[in-house]
Amino acid sequence: MTDKRELRVKPIVNGTVIDHITAGQALNVLKILGITTRSRYVVSVLMNVPSGEMKSKDVVKIENREIDPEELDSIALIAPKATINIIRNYEVVGKHRVELPQQATGLVRCGNPNCISNTNEPVESRFTVEPAGDEIHLRCVYCEFVIGEDIAEHLL
Ligand code: CTP
Ligand code: ZN
Repeated sequence: MTDKRELRVKPIVNGTVIDHITAGQALNVLKILGITTRSRYVVSVLMNVPSGEMKSKDVVKIENREIDPEELDSIALIAPKATINIIRNYEVVGKHRVELPQQATGLVRCGNPNCISNTNEPVESRFTVEPAGDEIHLRCVYCEFVIGEDIAEHLL
C-alpha cells in the first residue's frame, strides 16, 4: 500500500471487513448492523468497486466490531456472496463466506398485511429461503407470500 494511485481505503488494524457485497447493498448492510449517524464506530464504505469475479461490489469495514450470527443471516439474504474477514493486528485471521439459512425467522416482515405474523398475535415472521438462480426468494411459512428481489425493503 505504498503506491498512492492504488490506495482506496486504508487497511484496518482490528475489526471486520465485509467484502464482495452485492453492489448497491452496502447501506442495507449498515442498516442490518444498526450503524446510524449516532454510532461511534469507525466505518469505511466502498460502493461499486470494480471486482474481477463480480464486475462490481460493495465493501464495508468496521473497526473494533464483530458480527453476530443473526446479523450474518440477514446479510446473507441481501448479499449471498459476501465474505466476512476478521482482522487482528492488520492480519486476516479469519475468512468465511456467508451462508444462506434454510429459514429466516424474525428477520424480515411478511408483505401480506393480513399475515398472522403481522397481527397482534405473538407470531414471529418465518420464511423458507429458496435460492432461485442469482436471486433468493423468501416464502412465508404462514401465508405463502413470496418476497423476491426487494428483500432489503422488508428487513425488520
Ligand atoms: N483488509 C483490510 N485491512 C486489513 C487486511 C485486509 O481492510 N488489515 C481488507 C482487504 O482490503 C480486503 C479484505 O479485507 O478487502 C480481505 O483481505 P485479503 O484476504 O487480504 O484480500 P483478498 O485476498 O483479495 O480477499 P478475497 O480472496 O476474499 O477476495
Ligand atoms: Zn405471511
